[in-house]
Amino acid sequence: MNALALALLCLLLWPESTEAQFPRVCCTVEGILSKQCCPAPGSDPANVCGSLTGRGICSAVRVDNKPWGGPYRLRNVDDRERWPTKFFNQTCRCFGNFAGFDCSQCKFGWTGPNCDQRKAPVVRKNIHDLTPEEQQEFLNALDLAKTTLHPDYVIATQHWLGLLGPNGTEPQVANISIYDFFVWQHYYSVRDTLLGPGRPFKAIDFSHKGPAFITWHRYHLLSLERELQRLIGNENFAIPYWNFATGQRECDVCTDSLLGARNPENPSLISNQSRFSRWGVVCNSLDDYNRLVTLCNGTSEGFIERGIIEQSNMSLPSMNDVRSCLGLRDFDSPPYFTNSSSSFRNALEGYEKPNGELDESVTNLHNLVHSFLNGTSSLSHSAANDPIFLVLHTFTDAIFDEWMRRFIPSNATFPDEMAPIGHNRDYNMVPFFPPITNEEIYVTSDQLGYSYAIALDDGGATVFVLGSTLGGVFIGLLVLLLIFVLYLRQRRNSGFEPLIKADFTNKKYTEEA
Ligand SMILES: *[C@@H]1O[C@H](CO)[C@@H](O)[C@H](O)[C@H]1NC(C)=O
Ligand SMILES: *[C@@H]1O[C@H](CO)[C@@H](O)[C@H](O)[C@H]1NC(C)=O
Ligand SMILES: *[C@@H]1O[C@H](CO)[C@@H](O)[C@H](O)[C@H]1NC(C)=O
Ligand SMILES: *[C@@H]1O[C@H](CO)[C@@H](O)[C@H](O)[C@H]1NC(C)=O
Ligand SMILES: *[C@@H]1O[C@H](CO)[C@@H](O)[C@H](O)[C@H]1NC(C)=O
Ligand SMILES: *[C@@H]1O[C@H](CO)[C@@H](O)[C@H](O)[C@H]1NC(C)=O
Ligand SMILES: *[C@@H]1O[C@H](CO)[C@@H](O)[C@H](O)[C@H]1NC(C)=O
Ligand SMILES: *[C@@H]1O[C@H](CO)[C@@H](O)[C@H](O)[C@H]1NC(C)=O
Ligand SMILES: *[C@@H]1O[C@H](CO)[C@@H](O)[C@H](O)[C@H]1NC(C)=O
Repeated sequence: MNALALALLCLLLWPESTEAQFPRVCCTVEGILSKQCCPAPGSDPANVCGSLTGRGICSAVRVDNKPWGGPYRLRNVDDRERWPTKFFNQTCRCFGNFAGFDCSQCKFGWTGPNCDQRKAPVVRKNIHDLTPEEQQEFLNALDLAKTTLHPDYVIATQHWLGLLGPNGTEPQVANISIYDFFVWQHYYSVRDTLLGPGRPFKAIDFSHKGPAFITWHRYHLLSLERELQRLIGNENFAIPYWNFATGQRECDVCTDSLLGARNPENPSLISNQSRFSRWGVVCNSLDDYNRLVTLCNGTSEGFIERGIIEQSNMSLPSMNDVRSCLGLRDFDSPPYFTNSSSSFRNALEGYEKPNGELDESVTNLHNLVHSFLNGTSSLSHSAANDPIFLVLHTFTDAIFDEWMRRFIPSNATFPDEMAPIGHNRDYNMVPFFPPITNEEIYVTSDQLGYSYAIALDDGGATVFVLGSTLGGVFIGLLVLLLIFVLYLRQRRNSGFEPLIKADFTNKKYTEEA
């Protein structure tokens, strides 16, 4: 009740917190005032949304009007409600397979000048199976994306009411690199509601702790993958995955030839033999942004940290955990939150046991990997700064894809109401622009133009992990079982910290909202 009263007070005293990321061409004074973002591809300004060539039209944004559940009960105080209508209420709606903010692109999985040819799926491979050339291509693409300004999008750096500057004549937006834009999107989706100076409302998250966890991260990766393809001029480029389900206590991609080893002089930093030791992190100072009622503006705030402690008892998930969650038939279950049980999504995200049993002390699969990496990776607002984020999430997505293949779910299995805000089926995922709903991404990977070089179906997973001979499979199974038993024993004794109340700390992947 107190919180509610406070929120109402703040609503009266404080302007809405509304800032975001949009196409550079729409971030003009006129664009922001008109709330219309319907650019024309090419040079003819009359060709709005490619309408003269039948690609799309400018039309009113559709938003989800179904009730939501979850802890966020405020109304009309967060700019991400009814996304993106606090900023733009008219955008391009593209016909057929056309896509993009000006309908100049094709939907994922389509190609050709008229976007009517199926694109051969790009193949996401195990990072350890890449050829040396493919490895270099991946690492070079990341480095280039870290330093190349995003060709199309800018981020806003000020409060919505100050978005046009003190005189209402100067949009407060900034350029940002392609990779940092990816980081910023993740931060923006998890950041707190800014109710006033030092008064954040923290129990809100548009990309975790609910069904959109799966679709949001899938789209996020797809968008970056497409930007990287454009950047390096290879439309067959695919982000590799890291099979983190090794049950081990070490990070086998944390090497200088891959994503960076530990720095011997400062174990919380990356070795200076790795290019990633020089990567600056952005969007890390959440408390400062909350205090100043501002947003991450994309400036560098230090280096990537990893805090893997050797003598820690924590080990990575196992293939048994993966298999176990793949046995859960229900995509999600009420209340579509961290306390959902028998929910495939909640098991994969890591708030329930892999077998679907709810246990508040559990951290598994996706969440466990973030916690295991510690440092930058363990805080949701900054995690995407570490390039491990990509390969961690491609594998998470591969598990989801296998689940889809197994259960061939209908759209109706994705809740259309009473999920936490942002997580209903028809909600436009925040902060993606132009708008795209969860439902549009709740399809198999082949429909989106990619696939995984992985077999997670029964038996196949073992083959994949341990080689192809039958003997290898059998020995492998025994080893996995042993690892699993040992792992369970360690987990039981490891004494995870009790969940910390999110209202007063930055969100870790292990916390309740
Ligand atoms: C969109 O926003 C503009 C500017 O605030 C407003 O005048 C217009 O009525 C809105 N249009 C729709 C379709 O909501
Ligand atoms: C705003 O307008 C004032 C008075 O015209 C001018 O002195 C000032 O430089 C302007 N500020 C900006 C940021 O344009
Ligand atoms: C962003 O970069 C573009 C291209 O270099 C430039 O034209 C534009 O003024 C920059 N915008 C901002 C807000 O700095
Ligand atoms: C990298 O670190 C080593 C010690 O760990 C140091 O001797 C070397 O000078 C450093 N190289 C650079 C380029 O900073
Ligand atoms: C950007 O944000 C940083 C950290 O929050 C702040 O120190 C800096 O002054 C900001 N820069 C601009 C240009 O606003
Ligand atoms: C995470 O890192 C911090 C400091 O770097 C350390 O104190 C803590 O023990 C680490 N946690 C785990 C689980 O390793
Ligand atoms: C789940 O958690 C929410 C928020 O903490 C709480 O309101 C709700 O009662 C819980 N539901 C169940 C079924 O435990
Ligand atoms: C399911 O979602 C897809 C993607 O949005 C859509 O094309 C399809 O029509 C939907 N099917 C049903 C039965 O609603
Ligand atoms: C966990 O780690 C602590 C300190 O590193 C150690 O004392 C304890 O025996 C370990 N427990 C298990 C089950 O390995």
